[in-house]
Amino acid sequence: MTIALTGFMGSGKSSVGRSLAERLGCPFVDLDREVEARSGRSASEIFASEGERGFREREVEALAAVLERLEGMPLAVLALGGGTQTVPEAAALLEQKTFLVYLEAGIETIQKRLEDAVDRPLLQENPASLLESRLPVYEKSQMKILTEGKTIETLSALIAENLKKISIFV
Ligand code: S3P
Repeated sequence: MTIALTGFMGSGKSSVGRSLAERLGCPFVDLDREVEARSGRSASEIFASEGERGFREREVEALAAVLERLEGMPLAVLALGGGTQTVPEAAALLEQKTFLVYLEAGIETIQKRLEDAVDRPLLQENPASLLESRLPVYEKSQMKILTEGKTIETLSALIAENLKKISIFV
């Protein structure tokens, strides 16, 4: 079973994902890093040369490869990019093959967390309206975790506890 963490940029997917994987003693994969490794370039370089469309194509390819790789494992944690599910093919793969956990944060918290953000090309757009347009997709997740005011450790413990309650792992 692959636990996929979703949510907007700055919601904590990568740091909570790493902490959760440590807690569960299972592999952790960060999709952005996977896209970058396969392309040999940073996300912002890909955005600059190929636009969002080029990035999404690479992202969905990387996602399919990662999910195939993780499929045989009893448990794994995958941190998605904030826009991964905007591509229908990616959304379908995730729905089919993962258990989705949404890390929820309000726009003010997100903006505060992203003040010094590097490598997030889409932040030049209007983050509030981008977040709003993505909420319906995030909200479809099987589990929703409110992140406001909680530490990374608290959040990963909370997710692990909830997964245990629904017997996702023993
Ligand atoms: C994006 C989020 C980024 C990265 C890319 C596009 C988005 O990941 O995939 O810059 O569309 O929201 P994080 O959510 O990990 O910042």
